[in-house]
Amino acid sequence: MASKTTVYYVCTNCGAQSTKWYGRCPECGEWNTLQEEQTERKAVSKKASSHSASAKTVSLDEVSYDSDIRYSTGIEEFDRVLGGGIVGGSVILLGGEPGAGKSTLLLQICGNVCDKARVLYVSGEESSSQIKIRAKRLGVDTPNLLIANETDITSVINTVREHRPDLCIIDSIQTMEVDGIPSSAGSVAQVRESASALTKCAKAEGIPFIIVGHVNKDGAIAGPKVMEHIVDTVLYLEGDRYLALRILRSAKNRYGSTNEIGMFDMTDKGLFGIANPSMLLLEGASTDAPGSCVTCAMEGTRPIMAEIQALTTKSSFSVPRRTADGLDFNRANLLIAVLEKRGGYMLSALDVYLNVIGGLNIGDTASDLAVAASIVSSLLDKTIPAGTVVFGEIGLGGEIRTVTDAVKRVSEAEKLGFTRCVLPAGSLKKMDATQYSMELIGISNIKDIKKVF
Ligand SMILES: Nc1ncnc2c1ncn2[C@@H]1O[C@H](COP(=O)(O)OP(=O)(O)O)[C@@H](O)[C@H]1O
Ligand SMILES: [Mg+2]
Ligand SMILES: [Zn+2]
Repeated sequence: MASKTTVYYVCTNCGAQSTKWYGRCPECGEWNTLQEEQTERKAVSKKASSHSASAKTVSLDEVSYDSDIRYSTGIEEFDRVLGGGIVGGSVILLGGEPGAGKSTLLLQICGNVCDKARVLYVSGEESSSQIKIRAKRLGVDTPNLLIANETDITSVINTVREHRPDLCIIDSIQTMEVDGIPSSAGSVAQVRESASALTKCAKAEGIPFIIVGHVNKDGAIAGPKVMEHIVDTVLYLEGDRYLALRILRSAKNRYGSTNEIGMFDMTDKGLFGIANPSMLLLEGASTDAPGSCVTCAMEGTRPIMAEIQALTTKSSFSVPRRTADGLDFNRANLLIAVLEKRGGYMLSALDVYLNVIGGLNIGDTASDLAVAASIVSSLLDKTIPAGTVVFGEIGLGGEIRTVTDAVKRVSEAEKLGFTRCVLPAGSLKKMDATQYSMELIGISNIKDIKKVF
């Protein structure tokens, strides 16, 4: 059967396909992300259906397995986010914006594991000498690190089979190309095919892969999202380019939880795990100004202190402006509505700007009470006493709901020298208050929010 070339359009952000071009992706809503692709789709599907051999099966009893063998990367924060290290034969996608520090972090991992293992670093982005310069700066020097400047997937796979490294790094997937696909490197089709070829190789050879994927907002190249379903684990390295804090999150993990985050400080010697992130985030906190409130949010199993700032001003717009940096926008609006309806604080004619200091993104609803307190603080132009930490979830009825890990949060705050804590009355009741030298104030309704002051 003769193959026929079909033209279709693929979203570089989410990989959605359509036969028509749209200015805005109907799946993910991104603008200008649809790219023309060509494929010999008919030929592929015919070939697949004429494939008549049946699949080989094996009884579950006979399946051999390595009982959860994990290899440490030598970077504690990285291992924790992975769920305890790299699983043999697994494929990890490390996504992030250019300049986030992906190559840096991976080269550091190479330096750590290379005294016991051999690593193949395939770079389609930088020359060997550029990598050498970075390695020198990071203090990585080992004969066990093999560098290949290659972008052809078949050659990469042949190199892997020839050298059989203990770990293979691909930097980046957007530079890789599979022969015979009529689109250029970085297109959705190339990224997807390259990723699945590498994944097949990883599974067949039992060699773990870490694949770098650039996140690109303007849609010029396909983002890591189009290959999320192909790989085992998806990690994102986030952070403001102008700030030193980097946060490693897991968006998918076949071998562990996705709750843990890793925090790093970016220096010229590489990325260093931050043992005490709260200290860093509270550095220079302007807690003596109205509108500032410190909270303790859980990130996975770790309590992290963060400063929330609010600014309320008389609006000059017909619809008041609301922004929420580092907080969920809809949640922030809900809290403003609850403050107005249940707390009696008039905010509907005011602009409300919210911000979490330090580039942190807080998803924990236990920060609700601190968000509300910072808004009230700005509204009344009244500062919250120094040394106060606030946490609690707010319900639609204005009730302050108990939160998980109250003990951990209070202990963290006390460890960092906080002297007052406002928390849900329900959480306080379950704790042994005599254990703490801190003043613990329980509140059960938003009407009592003045007790924060
Ligand atoms: N000579 C240097 N000294 C200090 N920091 C540097 C130097 N060169 C690069 N960096 C830092 O490294 C970052 C680039 O990291 P890199 O690992 O190349 O990012 P990615 O691979 O994610 O694009 C830059 O944002 C910069 O902050
Ligand atoms: Mg790089
Ligand atoms: Zn899309």
